[in-house]
Amino acid sequence: MSEMRKVTLINGDGIGPEVVNATRQVLEAAKCPLEFEYQDAGAEQMNRHGTNLPPSTVESVLRNGVALKGPTATGIGVGPQSANVALRKQLELYASVRPVKSIPGVKTRYDNIDLVVVRENTEDLYAGIEHIVVPGVVESLKIITEKASTRICRYAFEHARAQKRKKVSAVHKANIMKLSDGLFLDCFRKVAREYSDIQSEDVIVDNLCMQLVKNPEKYDVLVMENLYGDIVSDLCAGLVGGLGLVPGANIGTSSAVFEAVHGTAPDIAGKGLANPTALLLSAVMMLQWLKEDVAAARIEKAVLKVYAEGKVRTGDLGGSARMKDFTQAVIAHLA
Ligand code: NAI
Repeated sequence: MSEMRKVTLINGDGIGPEVVNATRQVLEAAKCPLEFEYQDAGAEQMNRHGTNLPPSTVESVLRNGVALKGPTATGIGVGPQSANVALRKQLELYASVRPVKSIPGVKTRYDNIDLVVVRENTEDLYAGIEHIVVPGVVESLKIITEKASTRICRYAFEHARAQKRKKVSAVHKANIMKLSDGLFLDCFRKVAREYSDIQSEDVIVDNLCMQLVKNPEKYDVLVMENLYGDIVSDLCAGLVGGLGLVPGANIGTSSAVFEAVHGTAPDIAGKGLANPTALLLSAVMMLQWLKEDVAAARIEKAVLKVYAEGKVRTGDLGGSARMKDFTQAVIAHLA
């Protein structure tokens, strides 16, 4: 058996503690060689720590090199900087990787979706540099650098190569943002020349959204700036059945944080109704990253069997199962 590996576990807000607990139960039932170190982050921690991202949490992720995280809430128009944005910046988790794949048994408009959204995670409008110029006029700065753009494009091509994928598409709006998105596109084109084995193309973000809805099978790996990545990820999640299903990884040079694409789902929080699949599949990505491929495959297969059987479905997919029923079904299917 592999050596025990310590993983930072962050509950987060809303449905976070519920889906983290469900995922932990499955990881334990699968006897994964993991030891968990609970740390706090999120809006609910403000009173206790005076911050939504205590330094001890960042230190823990740095120490362990890996974390599994529930979603954290961020106020709209008010409150401190998002704990997510801060975590991604402080740990330089520059690549957000979100595989979006049809799940057999989950009926949607398409049954052949298999693409990966690679999102730059550290800059763009998420730099959060905003100020009031004069009352009634606000300026928000979009920061795009050659360094970060080159790094994310290279990551996308390396990922494509490692996963034996055929094409990388750069998503941009360089027709309007000629300097910022123009720089991103230039970096993409330069990097693409180093990967003659992989096709490359670029597509304007609004056209991409229409194409994804009409012909999603045209795409393979999509690489883009932070804000487009945020929006396109949710669109892609809709193509395969919703936010309850899509996992994600935030990869840096010295650590990685695995979390679902979805947020805290305040409308269903605390009711035991959330679908834990997205975090479970994020844990599968984490196990693959830790080179625990056997454990990763066991859990992924168990999740897929539950969907293929079609007996246990949570409310987001039109079923009436509670989260604990789904979790138990996955555990029962662990081979
Ligand atoms: P959301 O993803 O929380 O919810 C959107 C819709 O999807 C809701 O109807 C919700 O019930 C449903 N949903 C999401 N996850 C689900 C699951 N696992 N099972 C079943 N249904 C699910 O997005 P929203 O409402 O825009 O954001 C709520 C909060 O989450 C905000 O404070 C936002 O900042 C935060 N957020 C945090 C993220 C993170 O920590 N990585 C990512 C996205 C949003």
